[in-house]
Amino acid sequence: MVFPLWRVRPSHLYLRCSGIHARRCLSTPRSTLSPPTVNLLGAEYPTDTTTNVTSSISSKLGRNLHLQSAHPLGILRHLVESHFHDFTAFSQFSPLVTPAKNFDDLGFPLDHPGRSLTDSYYVNRDLMLRTHTSAHEVEVFAQGVRAWLLSADVYRRDEIDASHYPVFHQMEGARVFSGNANSMRDLEEENENLSAHLAQKNIVIEDVPHVSETNPPQAGHDPRHSELVARNLKLSLNSLILALFGGRVGASEANPLRVRWIEAYFPFTSPSFEVEVFFHGKWLEILGCGVVQQRTLISASVQDSISWAFGLGLERIAMILYSIPDIRLFWSQDPRFLTQFTPGQIHPFKPYSKYPPCHKDVAFWLPDSGLHENDFCDLVRDAAGDLVEDVKLIDKFTHPKTNRTSQCYRINYRSMDRSLTNEEANAIHASVESRLKSNFGVEIR
Ligand code: PHE
Repeated sequence: MVFPLWRVRPSHLYLRCSGIHARRCLSTPRSTLSPPTVNLLGAEYPTDTTTNVTSSISSKLGRNLHLQSAHPLGILRHLVESHFHDFTAFSQFSPLVTPAKNFDDLGFPLDHPGRSLTDSYYVNRDLMLRTHTSAHEVEVFAQGVRAWLLSADVYRRDEIDASHYPVFHQMEGARVFSGNANSMRDLEEENENLSAHLAQKNIVIEDVPHVSETNPPQAGHDPRHSELVARNLKLSLNSLILALFGGRVGASEANPLRVRWIEAYFPFTSPSFEVEVFFHGKWLEILGCGVVQQRTLISASVQDSISWAFGLGLERIAMILYSIPDIRLFWSQDPRFLTQFTPGQIHPFKPYSKYPPCHKDVAFWLPDSGLHENDFCDLVRDAAGDLVEDVKLIDKFTHPKTNRTSQCYRINYRSMDRSLTNEEANAIHASVESRLKSNFGVEIR
């Protein structure tokens, strides 16, 4: 893998992390004091020095796009639930979770970059917006459910472009097996049936071993059981992918659906995998999965069992299935968007006219404490809302004499619903500049 980071572009998954942690800011310096409480989903929460939820983020809580039956995300959720029809489906968990639930219970190391204030949204040091649906694994397993799905909105601070938005939706799925010989024999038979079914279909799968030295079974697992469970996970997901994409995105005999499995690393599964689908000439990552770390099942008081779990990104899949070109569209309230979708059906999105973009640059000297790109992007998002389409660092240099560093970002403003006037864009841009000065003490050049 070229970028061995959790923030692999354009990933939405927690991937292998590297020495980058050391360079990440753990705190966001702010000169403005936040109010003593913040209102989220109708309740007041105390703030502290870690608070970094912005009003543009808190306004997204409770929108629950995945629950709207005629919204592409709701339709996709429903399709996945229909495919795994004997799984119990959950979709009403609160996005406010403790860092313990989101990270500690899943074995995230203390220096994992996902924990930092630059990467996640904190209400205060004891409460955050979940960054992935895996945050609910322990509590769902603890209910004793043996096969389940859970869909939800998740929140991550990130860059701004057509495929990144600080709120997106994931669907977690898991299945628990008894670890005894009978159950493993049944699983072996089920695997043979699934595999025979897939063999007849127009799908080309590049695979990796179910377990290997670099993607090992867990110490407490019988390696043969681990292998059977990993194989079942792969077969189950290949069937889902076939159900979602097969025949829809130009798959034909001459041009079959291509799927590739890649070894991955997650703190809460081993062996672990990612899946990519070949679409319009590119490999797109759509999910992460693996054999659940036994620690999770033990925390949930599930005995003598072994489990697989996956987490898939709904926006990523919906953008492919519906040909939706910009992730902001999912949040559109424009009837020209919303009326195009029908429950249970997938047909390509018909773009309405694309309005002209308007780009503006902002160049500034960095403050001594630095400025993380995600802090910059959140500030722009807060000033511009969904009128910001793209943010790119276009220039960076350090003055040889003063040793000060200057950065120049190009911000592309564009509305998806109407023409933006130059005056409007100027006013938003002026607000970006003044927030940069007051919140981060930067000097505009
Ligand atoms: N929660 C992981 C992520 O968002 C995906 C995942 C889910 C991986 C379940 C393994 C098992 O990156």
